[in-house]
Amino acid sequence: MTDASNAVLYCTATLDGVTAPCVYKPVAGERPLWDFPDGTLAGREVAAYEVSAATGWALVPPTLLREGPHGPGMVQLWVEPDADAPELLDLQDPAGAEPGWLPIVRADVGAGRTALLVHRDDDRLRRLAVLDAVLNNADRKGGHWIPAADGRLYGIDHGVTFNVQGKLRTLLWGWADQPVTAEAQDVLVRLAEALDGDLGARLAPHLTAAELRATRERVGALRLTGRHPAPSADWPSIPWPPV
Ligand SMILES: Nc1ncnc2c1ncn2[C@@H]1O[C@H](COP(=O)(O)OP(=O)(O)O)[C@@H](O)[C@H]1O
Ligand SMILES: [Mg+2]
Repeated sequence: MTDASNAVLYCTATLDGVTAPCVYKPVAGERPLWDFPDGTLAGREVAAYEVSAATGWALVPPTLLREGPHGPGMVQLWVEPDADAPELLDLQDPAGAEPGWLPIVRADVGAGRTALLVHRDDDRLRRLAVLDAVLNNADRKGGHWIPAADGRLYGIDHGVTFNVQGKLRTLLWGWADQPVTAEAQDVLVRLAEALDGDLGARLAPHLTAAELRATRERVGALRLTGRHPAPSADWPSIPWPPV
């Protein structure tokens, strides 16, 4: 175990006889936030994993609530980042995104110059954007996805999710207002059903009834519009700094 000064601890955990590297975030190490009830972030991380699992996209590494050396906390399977994976973010000419890239925002890069922050037009990021819209994720910055050596992309750090108020803060605005894919439509149908059944029951210990209801409503709204959400004018919709 290392880095005990931080709320995130790196450890190994054993489950069903299998030992694997994990991150462990004890509830006791959670920093209080003005807009989320104290002591609930670990449960939100587990809830985000449950939703991801129900999509079939497996975007969130397996995550559990467990008792650890610093008390109960969330334990999540460690994903080894692929150092050779292509960059998913870039700064490009403010005139427009290059082919294969989508614009996020024009940013001041000092000395009176601006650049266009862009993300790749990548199917894995597009799925993550749909998941984040369902989770109401308030913190999808560039350090919160990890490309793994097997070519998969994993989302991490889902402590600030499931608020009843719209708090979607993400870099993944490249598809704003565009129709979701047919695959995502199918996933949203499945999620709506699951939220009324098994998934709803799995989320209930971690979320309030109002948060669960708001999650159903977000899925319902996404199905109705069939479109990726657009940035809100009344909420800082882009995490800054972006990584
Ligand atoms: N499941 C994971 N696999 C690999 N690295 C992780 C994982 N979860 C967190 N990390 C690493 O630990 C850092 C801090 O974790 P994060 O979940 O972002 O915690 P915090 O709440 O402190 O921001 C991440 O930026 C990432 O480098
Ligand atoms: Mg983080």
